[in-house]
Amino acid sequence: MKVLVIGRGGREHAIVRQFARSAFIEKVFAAPGNDGMRLEAELVPIEEMEFQALAQFAKEQKIDCTFIGPEQPLSAGIVDFFESQGLRAFGPSKAAAQIEGSKTFAKELMKKYQIPTAAYATFSEIAPAIDFIRQKGAPIVIKADGLAAGKGVVVAGSEEDAIAALHDMLEDRKYGASGSTVVIEEFLDGEEFSFMSFVYNGRIYPMVISQDHKRAYDGDRGPNTGGMGAYSPVPQIEESIVDETFHKIVKPAIEAMAEEGVPFNGILYAGVIVTAEGPKVIEFNARFGDPETQVVLPRMKSDFGDFMYALMEGKPFDLEWQEQAVLGVVIAAEGYPEQPEKGKLLPNLAGLSGVDIFHAGTTATSEGFAANGGRVLLISSEGDTVKAAQEKVYEQINSLSWSGFMHRSDIGWRASNPN
Ligand code: AMP
Ligand code: GLY
Repeated sequence: MKVLVIGRGGREHAIVRQFARSAFIEKVFAAPGNDGMRLEAELVPIEEMEFQALAQFAKEQKIDCTFIGPEQPLSAGIVDFFESQGLRAFGPSKAAAQIEGSKTFAKELMKKYQIPTAAYATFSEIAPAIDFIRQKGAPIVIKADGLAAGKGVVVAGSEEDAIAALHDMLEDRKYGASGSTVVIEEFLDGEEFSFMSFVYNGRIYPMVISQDHKRAYDGDRGPNTGGMGAYSPVPQIEESIVDETFHKIVKPAIEAMAEEGVPFNGILYAGVIVTAEGPKVIEFNARFGDPETQVVLPRMKSDFGDFMYALMEGKPFDLEWQEQAVLGVVIAAEGYPEQPEKGKLLPNLAGLSGVDIFHAGTTATSEGFAANGGRVLLISSEGDTVKAAQEKVYEQINSLSWSGFMHRSDIGWRASNPN
């Protein structure tokens, strides 16, 4: 089989690598990909939103399956377009991608089908939104309704911070049109985890769970980012909670989408907080998480190409995962997430041993790889436990000098110190 992976981040590098390892895949293409993927994929200089050119390429190269990484092309209908051209693509339709693209859509679906989630209200005017915040008090959560690359969420510790966030979104349009409507949500207190599943024609294959670190700085402080590191498994989340999440959240959501006439195919990502009342949804994504993918996919023991083929053909498959833990730390450009500095040269990565490296915002230069985006790399390691993986990865990271870059030094801390 030949596959085409669409996207250019660390998540797509993990997808590319997993396909490249498959005995059933003869060739992996990435469009546009990034320079760090060149050993595993042939890069195709077509951007994610150029549907016509991508489909043309898939036809010419006789691609068996196109796998879409990021949310933007999904929300814009890339899968519908590919299918209309007789091409096979893995991901949700434009209508189904609304589960991520519109928080209002997701919230209404959950309300209708009694899927546990934080209480919420939606506003596009500032005055009633302020009244609502005054009435509910802090902590409280303000979210831009549309896509904002994981950054359109403010967990406000005070009413003043909440109101400032409202001004940023509704008046100053900090997140553009994505913030013209805001969702104000009850603050959920508890351990958080990411539960991703492969879904196709009603069949669901859950993956092992993971935990992301969304805040920019150590101790889970600072602004929300796309994610600063992740690990899998999440030992502090009991198996019974994972089961309950599957039966009360994931399966009902997929059935609800079918019931609504917008069946979901692709990766359903549920972001969950385990509250005193049980697991509740904080968000759905219609795609793989980044950086969760980089720590989850490498734990797949089954052949990824073999699995994807069986999934799309409707054949039963026994999807297996390894016991070994994986922990990954994001290296970001200094200034991320507000103003990442571009162009800084990375230290020589050949000096690292026993780690996996996933490239995101890098470009190859004559002197080595340079930063070309907010999140630059993810460096991961395996271990018998999360702690062992953590020690290994930090020992390697600390062996190099990272001036011009930033990374958290405590990824995985909750695995040994929950709450
Ligand atoms: P989201 O983009 O919706 O996943 O939100 C980003 C991060 O903000 C989440 O990963 C949580 O850590 C936090 N968050 C979002 N919604 C809530 C909530 N209702 N209660 C507590 N924390 C939240
Ligand atoms: N890491 C969270 C996300 O991909 O949305």
